[in-house]
Amino acid sequence: MRIDIITIFPEFFRDVLEYGIVRRAQVAGLVQIAAHDLRQWTSDKHHVVDDRPFGGGDGMVLKAEPIFAGVEALTGATKREDLAADQRVVLLSPQGKVLSQSLAQELTETTTQLVLLCGRYEGVDERVVDALVTDEVSIGDYVLSGGEPAALVLVDALVRLLPGALGSDTSAVFESFSEGLLDCPHYTRPPEFRGMKVPEVLLSGNHKEIERWRRDAALAKTRRNRPDLLK
Ligand code: 6GU
Repeated sequence: MRIDIITIFPEFFRDVLEYGIVRRAQVAGLVQIAAHDLRQWTSDKHHVVDDRPFGGGDGMVLKAEPIFAGVEALTGATKREDLAADQRVVLLSPQGKVLSQSLAQELTETTTQLVLLCGRYEGVDERVVDALVTDEVSIGDYVLSGGEPAALVLVDALVRLLPGALGSDTSAVFESFSEGLLDCPHYTRPPEFRGMKVPEVLLSGNHKEIERWRRDAALAKTRRNRPDLLK
Protein backbone atom coordinates (compact mmCIF):
# COMPACT_ATOMS: atom_id res chain seq x y z
CA MET A 1 0.00 0.00 0.00
CA ARG A 2 1.12 3.53 -0.77
CA ILE A 3 -0.16 6.49 1.27
CA ASP A 4 0.34 10.06 0.00
CA ILE A 5 -0.58 12.85 2.38
CA ILE A 6 -1.29 16.32 0.94
CA THR A 7 -0.91 19.00 3.61
CA ILE A 8 0.20 22.58 4.18
CA PHE A 9 2.29 21.22 7.14
CA PRO A 10 4.39 18.34 5.72
CA GLU A 11 6.90 18.68 8.58
CA PHE A 12 4.12 17.73 10.99
CA PHE A 13 4.47 14.12 9.75
CA ARG A 14 8.27 13.81 9.62
CA ASP A 15 9.07 12.29 13.01
CA VAL A 16 5.75 10.86 14.02
CA LEU A 17 5.73 8.17 11.32
CA GLU A 18 9.07 6.83 12.59
CA TYR A 19 7.76 4.93 15.63
CA GLY A 20 6.42 1.52 16.45
CA ILE A 21 4.33 -0.52 14.07
CA VAL A 22 4.06 2.28 11.48
CA ARG A 23 7.84 2.47 11.28
CA ARG A 24 8.26 -1.31 11.15
CA ALA A 25 5.67 -1.65 8.38
CA GLN A 26 7.58 0.90 6.27
CA VAL A 27 10.92 -0.80 6.91
CA ALA A 28 9.36 -4.15 5.96
CA GLY A 29 8.08 -2.64 2.70
CA LEU A 30 4.40 -3.19 3.55
CA VAL A 31 3.59 0.50 3.10
CA GLN A 32 5.22 3.59 1.61
CA ILE A 33 4.13 6.85 3.24
CA ALA A 34 4.99 10.34 1.97
CA ALA A 35 3.85 13.79 3.09
CA HIS A 36 3.63 16.37 0.29
CA ASP A 37 3.50 20.16 0.60
CA LEU A 38 0.34 21.45 -1.07
CA ARG A 39 2.20 24.67 -1.93
CA GLN A 40 4.31 22.92 -4.59
CA TRP A 41 1.18 22.63 -6.74
CA THR A 42 0.28 26.32 -6.70
CA SER A 43 0.91 28.21 -9.93
CA ASP A 44 1.06 31.80 -8.64
CA LYS A 45 4.18 33.66 -7.53
CA HIS A 46 3.25 33.70 -3.84
CA HIS A 47 2.17 30.04 -3.61
CA VAL A 48 -1.24 30.88 -2.21
CA VAL A 49 -3.21 27.82 -1.07
CA ASP A 50 -6.27 29.49 0.44
CA ASP A 51 -8.64 32.36 -0.23
CA ARG A 52 -11.66 34.14 1.27
CA PRO A 53 -15.03 32.40 1.08
CA PHE A 54 -17.54 33.50 -1.56
CA GLY A 55 -20.59 34.90 0.23
CA GLY A 56 -18.48 36.22 3.07
CA GLY A 57 -17.72 34.88 6.52
CA ASP A 58 -14.72 34.20 8.72
CA GLY A 59 -11.70 32.14 7.88
CA MET A 60 -10.09 31.00 4.70
CA VAL A 61 -10.97 28.20 2.32
CA LEU A 62 -8.41 25.88 0.72
CA LYS A 63 -8.38 26.51 -3.03
CA ALA A 64 -9.38 23.79 -5.48
CA GLU A 65 -6.62 24.25 -8.10
CA PRO A 66 -3.57 23.09 -6.10
CA ILE A 67 -5.49 20.14 -4.65
CA PHE A 68 -6.59 18.95 -8.11
CA ALA A 69 -3.01 19.44 -9.40
CA GLY A 70 -1.57 17.46 -6.47
CA VAL A 71 -3.98 14.54 -6.85
CA GLU A 72 -3.28 14.46 -10.58
CA ALA A 73 0.48 14.44 -9.99
CA LEU A 74 0.19 11.60 -7.47
CA THR A 75 -2.49 9.43 -9.11
CA GLY A 76 -2.64 10.43 -12.78
CA ALA A 77 -6.36 11.14 -12.41
CA THR A 78 -7.91 14.56 -12.99
CA LYS A 79 -11.30 13.55 -11.59
CA ARG A 80 -12.84 10.81 -9.44
CA GLU A 81 -14.04 8.78 -12.43
CA ASP A 82 -10.44 8.45 -13.70
CA LEU A 83 -9.21 6.80 -10.50
CA ALA A 84 -8.59 3.05 -10.57
CA ALA A 85 -10.77 0.92 -8.30
CA ASP A 86 -7.82 0.49 -5.89
CA GLN A 87 -7.06 4.23 -5.67
CA ARG A 88 -8.93 6.31 -3.09
CA VAL A 89 -8.83 10.03 -2.34
CA VAL A 90 -9.87 10.71 1.24
CA LEU A 91 -10.62 14.19 2.57
CA LEU A 92 -10.21 14.48 6.33
CA SER A 93 -12.87 16.89 7.51
CA PRO A 94 -15.33 17.26 10.40
CA GLN A 95 -18.13 16.94 7.80
CA GLY A 96 -17.06 13.39 6.90
CA LYS A 97 -18.51 10.06 7.93
CA VAL A 98 -17.04 8.99 11.24
CA LEU A 99 -14.07 6.60 11.00
CA SER A 100 -14.83 3.09 12.20
CA GLN A 101 -12.94 -0.19 12.37
CA SER A 102 -15.04 -1.49 9.47
CA LEU A 103 -14.09 1.50 7.27
CA ALA A 104 -10.42 1.00 8.20
CA GLN A 105 -10.73 -2.68 7.26
CA GLU A 106 -12.43 -1.89 3.98
CA LEU A 107 -9.72 0.63 3.05
CA THR A 108 -6.82 -1.76 3.80
CA GLU A 109 -8.48 -4.61 1.90
CA THR A 110 -9.40 -2.71 -1.27
CA THR A 111 -6.87 0.11 -1.65
CA THR A 112 -3.28 0.08 -2.93
CA GLN A 113 -2.93 3.88 -3.21
CA LEU A 114 -4.51 6.21 -0.73
CA VAL A 115 -4.28 10.01 -1.05
CA LEU A 116 -5.12 11.81 2.18
CA LEU A 117 -6.18 15.46 1.84
CA CYS A 118 -5.81 17.37 5.10
CA GLY A 119 -8.50 20.04 5.30
CA ARG A 120 -8.44 23.18 7.38
CA TYR A 121 -11.31 23.62 9.78
CA GLU A 122 -12.65 26.65 7.90
CA GLY A 123 -13.13 24.46 4.88
CA VAL A 124 -12.03 23.20 1.49
CA ASP A 125 -13.55 24.33 -1.81
CA GLU A 126 -16.51 21.97 -2.20
CA ARG A 127 -15.64 21.21 -5.83
CA VAL A 128 -12.87 19.00 -4.40
CA VAL A 129 -15.56 16.95 -2.64
CA ASP A 130 -17.88 16.98 -5.64
CA ALA A 131 -15.40 15.88 -8.31
CA LEU A 132 -12.30 14.31 -6.72
CA VAL A 133 -12.86 12.83 -3.28
CA THR A 134 -13.98 9.20 -2.91
CA ASP A 135 -14.47 9.36 0.88
CA GLU A 136 -14.93 12.29 3.27
CA VAL A 137 -13.86 11.08 6.71
CA SER A 138 -14.00 12.55 10.22
CA ILE A 139 -12.41 10.98 13.31
CA GLY A 140 -15.16 12.04 15.72
CA ASP A 141 -17.68 14.63 16.76
CA TYR A 142 -15.34 17.45 17.76
CA VAL A 143 -13.48 20.07 15.76
CA LEU A 144 -9.73 20.04 15.14
CA SER A 145 -7.92 23.02 13.65
CA GLY A 146 -6.85 20.87 10.72
CA GLY A 147 -7.05 17.39 9.25
CA GLU A 148 -3.40 16.52 9.98
CA PRO A 149 -3.93 14.78 13.35
CA ALA A 150 -6.90 12.95 11.81
CA ALA A 151 -4.71 11.78 8.89
CA LEU A 152 -2.23 10.34 11.41
CA VAL A 153 -5.03 8.52 13.19
CA LEU A 154 -6.23 7.04 9.91
CA VAL A 155 -2.70 6.01 8.86
CA ASP A 156 -2.16 4.20 12.16
CA ALA A 157 -5.55 2.46 12.03
CA LEU A 158 -4.87 1.24 8.48
CA VAL A 159 -1.21 0.27 8.71
CA ARG A 160 -1.66 -2.04 11.69
CA LEU A 161 -4.24 -3.98 9.66
CA LEU A 162 -1.86 -4.69 6.76
CA PRO A 163 -0.98 -8.39 6.61
CA GLY A 164 2.33 -8.86 8.44
CA ALA A 165 2.28 -5.50 10.24
CA LEU A 166 1.64 -6.98 13.69
CA GLY A 167 3.72 -9.67 15.32
CA SER A 168 1.19 -12.39 14.58
CA ASP A 169 -1.42 -12.31 11.85
CA THR A 170 -4.28 -12.98 14.25
CA SER A 171 -3.58 -10.41 16.94
CA ALA A 172 -5.44 -7.62 15.13
CA VAL A 173 -8.58 -9.72 15.12
CA PHE A 174 -9.10 -10.39 18.84
CA GLU A 175 -9.42 -6.84 19.95
CA SER A 176 -11.74 -3.98 20.64
CA PHE A 177 -14.54 -3.53 18.12
CA SER A 178 -13.81 -6.59 16.00
CA GLU A 179 -16.58 -8.38 17.89
CA GLY A 180 -18.53 -5.21 18.63
CA LEU A 181 -17.21 -5.10 22.21
CA LEU A 182 -14.43 -3.20 23.93
CA ASP A 183 -11.29 -5.15 24.79
CA CYS A 184 -11.13 -6.91 28.16
CA PRO A 185 -8.79 -5.62 30.92
CA HIS A 186 -5.18 -6.86 30.94
CA TYR A 187 -2.66 -7.37 33.77
CA THR A 188 1.04 -8.21 33.98
CA ARG A 189 3.49 -8.85 36.82
CA PRO A 190 3.53 -8.40 39.76
CA PRO A 191 0.43 -10.36 40.83
CA GLU A 192 -0.06 -7.90 43.70
CA PHE A 193 0.79 -4.17 43.49
CA ARG A 194 0.06 -1.75 46.36
CA GLY A 195 -2.53 -4.13 47.68
CA MET A 196 -4.27 -4.48 44.32
CA LYS A 197 -4.50 -8.10 43.18
CA VAL A 198 -4.73 -9.51 39.70
CA PRO A 199 -7.99 -11.48 39.31
CA GLU A 200 -7.26 -15.01 40.58
CA VAL A 201 -8.65 -16.73 37.52
CA LEU A 202 -5.97 -15.18 35.27
CA LEU A 203 -3.29 -16.94 37.38
CA SER A 204 -5.15 -20.27 37.38
CA GLY A 205 -4.01 -21.67 34.06
CA ASN A 206 -7.61 -22.74 33.37
CA HIS A 207 -8.00 -21.49 29.82
CA LYS A 208 -11.72 -22.12 29.61
CA GLU A 209 -12.34 -20.13 32.79
CA ILE A 210 -9.98 -17.38 31.58
CA GLU A 211 -11.89 -17.08 28.30
CA ARG A 212 -15.20 -16.84 30.16
CA TRP A 213 -13.78 -14.17 32.52
CA ARG A 214 -12.43 -12.12 29.60
CA ARG A 215 -15.75 -12.22 27.78
CA ASP A 216 -17.67 -11.15 30.92
CA ALA A 217 -15.14 -8.40 31.71
CA ALA A 218 -15.31 -7.08 28.13
CA LEU A 219 -19.10 -6.99 28.37
CA ALA A 220 -18.99 -5.20 31.74
CA LYS A 221 -16.54 -2.60 30.45
CA THR A 222 -18.61 -2.05 27.31
CA ARG A 223 -21.78 -1.64 29.39
CA ARG A 224 -20.00 0.94 31.59
CA ASN A 225 -18.09 2.98 28.97
CA ARG A 226 -19.90 2.38 25.67
CA PRO A 227 -23.47 1.19 26.23
CA ASP A 228 -24.27 2.40 22.70
CA LEU A 229 -22.23 -0.54 21.31
CA LEU A 230 -24.58 -3.07 22.94
CA LYS A 231 -27.68 -1.73 21.22
CL1 6GU B 1 -10.87 14.88 9.88
N1 6GU B 1 -10.74 17.39 10.62
C1 6GU B 1 -11.02 18.39 11.47
N2 6GU B 1 -10.58 19.61 11.16
N3 6GU B 1 -11.66 18.24 12.61
C2 6GU B 1 -12.07 17.01 12.89
C3 6GU B 1 -11.84 15.92 12.07
C4 6GU B 1 -11.17 16.15 10.91
N4 6GU B 1 -12.38 14.82 12.64
C5 6GU B 1 -12.92 15.24 13.76
N5 6GU B 1 -12.75 16.54 13.94
